[in-house]
Amino acid sequence: MTDEPVLAVRDLVVEYRTPAGPVRAVRGASFDLYEGESLALVGESGCGKTTLGLALLRLLPRLGSTPHGEVRYRRADGSTVDLLTMRKEQLRRFRWHEAAMVFQGAMNALNPVLRVQDQMYDTIRAHRSMSASAARKRCHEVLDMVRLEPRRVMPSYPHELSGGMRQRVLIAMALLLSPRVLVLDEPTTALDILTQRSIVDVLQELRRELGFAMVFVTHDLALAAELADRVATMYAGRIVELGDSRDVFAAPRHPYTAGLIRAVPPAVGEATEISSIPGGPPSLAALPPGCPFSVRCGLSAEVGDGDGPAGVCVQADPELTRTGERHEVACHYSDRVEFTREVVVDGV
Ligand SMILES: Nc1ncnc2c1ncn2[C@@H]1O[C@H](COP(=O)(O)OP(=O)(O)OP(=O)(O)O)[C@@H](O)[C@H]1O
Ligand code: SF4
Ligand SMILES: [Mg+2]
Repeated sequence: MTDEPVLAVRDLVVEYRTPAGPVRAVRGASFDLYEGESLALVGESGCGKTTLGLALLRLLPRLGSTPHGEVRYRRADGSTVDLLTMRKEQLRRFRWHEAAMVFQGAMNALNPVLRVQDQMYDTIRAHRSMSASAARKRCHEVLDMVRLEPRRVMPSYPHELSGGMRQRVLIAMALLLSPRVLVLDEPTTALDILTQRSIVDVLQELRRELGFAMVFVTHDLALAAELADRVATMYAGRIVELGDSRDVFAAPRHPYTAGLIRAVPPAVGEATEISSIPGGPPSLAALPPGCPFSVRCGLSAEVGDGDGPAGVCVQADPELTRTGERHEVACHYSDRVEFTREVVVDGV
């Protein structure tokens, strides 16, 4: 990891137009992604994780979505460019060469009527002029990297491969043109536990060897703790906590992150400590005033003496504010968050 951000995201807002009115799926995200680091985006379904991941590569649906703000990419030569204002041809070059995405749902992301080799060749041909033999060699290399047998996998159709193999094919395809940033949307969801393990091992190994920066979306806090240098918790379209995974998992400073961690069986300690977060996330089309977590927040109720949430929580949506050297939290009472669960991060 270096001190230079490869991506600097500032006040990123993404709004979808829907028949029910505008839905603001990302509401003012600001963060840096450093070279070679791995950042996990965690949070409940519908909180905007995929939307944020797509916006980082400007892959949002062109009709019906509007991104605002800045996603500044720093090239290897040190020059920078804002992806949100990049022209189409520049953007085409940026994708796959500089940054690539592994989409949510391995089966849907592959074309079911094309052999793996044809999908891989198409990707190479669309972005780089390469002889047939060089393209074949590159496909072999990346399939080897993800521990797949090229001779078996290349002539296969997606349905002839297991879910774990398909996921690894997608990772291999994303690596074809050696990107510096990789965005992975739920890379292990819907895979059995052993297959999840092998994907995690492959990603760890690739990151060590190739040194790309990685943003990955996950519901799985154990995966985030293992694979991420830093973690960002999202709630209702906002990043509400951002910090080193060790700090965040050992001492979360946002009641929502603490709730997510309490909802997972501990790696050590008593299973009786598990508890869920009451209620569900608010509709992004009709957010309550103030902090969108206020209706579910035990801490706010405690501060408000049981008469509903504390006044400030329903009056003002808290900004992401620095609470430690590398820790930022959006909560009016972050200094009162108590967390007692002992957490094992990265085997420590
Ligand atoms: N193409 C779209 N058009 C309109 N609304 C959308 C679109 N894509 C997502 N949304 C809405 O934006 C919000 C955030 O969705 P997003 O898919 O980013 O969430 P997520 O955190 O990735 O959820 P999940 O964990 O279920 O994948 C949701 O309310 C969703 O309904
Ligand atoms: S600002 Fe208030 S409602 Fe929001 S998380 Fe903090 S204590 Fe809870
Ligand atoms: Mg998603």
